[in-house]
Amino acid sequence: MSSPISAARQTVYLNGCFLPLAEAKISVMDRGFLFGDGVYEVIPVFGHKLLRGDAHLRRLQHSLDRISLQNPMSDSDWMQLFARVLEKNPGENRAIYLQISRGVYPSRDLTVKSGYPATIFMMVLPVKEIDLALLAKGIKAITIEDFRWDACDIKSTSLVASVMLRQQATRAKVEDAVLVKHGYVTEGTASNLFLVDGNTLITPPTGHQLLSGITREIILDLATENNIPVIQRPVSQQALYHADEIWLASSTREIAPVVKLDDQLISKGAAGPMWQRMMGWYQLQKQAGR
Ligand code: PDD
Repeated sequence: MSSPISAARQTVYLNGCFLPLAEAKISVMDRGFLFGDGVYEVIPVFGHKLLRGDAHLRRLQHSLDRISLQNPMSDSDWMQLFARVLEKNPGENRAIYLQISRGVYPSRDLTVKSGYPATIFMMVLPVKEIDLALLAKGIKAITIEDFRWDACDIKSTSLVASVMLRQQATRAKVEDAVLVKHGYVTEGTASNLFLVDGNTLITPPTGHQLLSGITREIILDLATENNIPVIQRPVSQQALYHADEIWLASSTREIAPVVKLDDQLISKGAAGPMWQRMMGWYQLQKQAGR
């Protein structure tokens, strides 16, 4: 069932006001617009429950600290604001998009100055109900050299590199790309990567080369709870082609099995048994909202 939120009827939050999406305007001098000088979060909401809202706020704080931008609100104020924006945009499966930029300066100047309030924008994105049968058919991906910067742990709004990488995947007529840096896998264009080897789940360790995904965190917790061995270690590009399963995971995509990578079939071209189990646990987690 699709969500009733449509762009035309969206009520968004901008700098203290709730207003229709079409009326939400920012200055062309906003540093988010001029420099991509800002950070964001995408927080999934199932039913009326945020899925790991606390973890998303923790990551938001990390991103803000990394760019030396003060958090404009306390966690409890954020939670209250999330509740209000959700109330104004009813629906079942949704995601809160939150963006904070360094605000508007009088002139275009890279130098950071104090005294200018951050720009805070929030909207509610409809998220399609996952069709498990369709998802089980899997996605195709290609490997691409990861030419992004050395600060991928920041959920930064400077996303032009990701746009270019996704464009390469689209041109290759596949859904996504697995990014490879110096022979080792980092992540997807907007997702984290997992590999299944026998009964073991393997994922690259967090650091400056990839975003510390909250879905990744949930998957690791679920694996541990269910006695699935987990190894966080560098994954070579070659290891991908020998994997029993490959998954790409994010808040909006959940867990997508990759069934074809470059020219090679993965897990015989269909979702594997570990994916089936993990998706079952993940769906329960969504319902519980933990
Ligand atoms: N992106 N890596 C990158 C580069 C991402 O952009 C994302 C998510 C993830 C997964 O993070 P999480 O599990 O917290 O969603 C990993 C979001 C969904 C986006 O940009 O829309």
